[in-house]
Amino acid sequence: MTVLIVGSLNTDILVRVRRAPLPGETVLGDDAQVQPGGKGANQAVAAARAGAAVAFCGAIGRDTFAPVPRGALSAAGVDLEDLRELDAPSGIALITIADDGENSITVASGANARLAPEHLPAEFTGVSHLLMQQEIPPDTVLAAAVRAKAAGAQVMLNAAPARQLTDELWPLLDTLIVNEHELAQLAGVPEGQEESAARSLLSRGVGAVFVTLGARGSLVVTANEVLKQPAHKVDVLDTTGAGDTFCGVLAAWLSGGAALPEALQAANVAGALACTKLGAQAAMPTRGEIEAALSAL
Ligand code: RIB
Repeated sequence: MTVLIVGSLNTDILVRVRRAPLPGETVLGDDAQVQPGGKGANQAVAAARAGAAVAFCGAIGRDTFAPVPRGALSAAGVDLEDLRELDAPSGIALITIADDGENSITVASGANARLAPEHLPAEFTGVSHLLMQQEIPPDTVLAAAVRAKAAGAQVMLNAAPARQLTDELWPLLDTLIVNEHELAQLAGVPEGQEESAARSLLSRGVGAVFVTLGARGSLVVTANEVLKQPAHKVDVLDTTGAGDTFCGVLAAWLSGGAALPEALQAANVAGALACTKLGAQAAMPTRGEIEAALSAL
């Protein structure tokens, strides 16, 4: 069965700096690096490296930046039949990475913001899991969720970057994946109350809420259980793409038939491994690397 990702693809321009600039400030950094990115493409590559059969639907321009994310998806073995070429600039992300591993990202969405319901695949046959993010328009996310549900697929949404979801979308979501900031924003509560905030989202119709907590690990809350994973200890170099790795690996494990505890543990470990190298896709682990880390626990 296939994991279908409907989402964004960008070219990331990364610069390492001692610390992120304050408003109005200029800071000098290292040489820039150009890498494939975009939350959708990153999650597709993470799922493919974790062993899933992956198809991608997204939008890209016809400019000089297009080959960077397209080539990376292709090299990862992702099916690109539903990648649309539009008369719009390709997406670009400007990323600064500070010495503590934290990043700041500005996205120029370009073609990603023009991905419309008409660009979705005609059929969702063979799709076991649909995984989406929020770097594409909300009506496209909703249309894809409706079609996936009708086809009997599980619908997964990574609500990043944070934006409020429409009432119609909530009950279509089998799985929601958020970080602690996105969770607080969606639930309308202060940060630090993850379990109760996640429960309040369950009451809107979601099946399971996964929360990534950075140095505190991750958890999943369903109507019946709360499962927690402590952080997998690594030397953090760059957190860019760690959340995307978590989502892609979660989808890969779930589509392979894993139960929630097993899938949470694999995604938790993979997200940590992705923090040990610079960049998003460049840092994503293979299935073998994830399994090796799991067996060493
Ligand atoms: O989640 C990391 C990603 O966010 C980067 O690759 C960048 O392109 C932005 O979409």
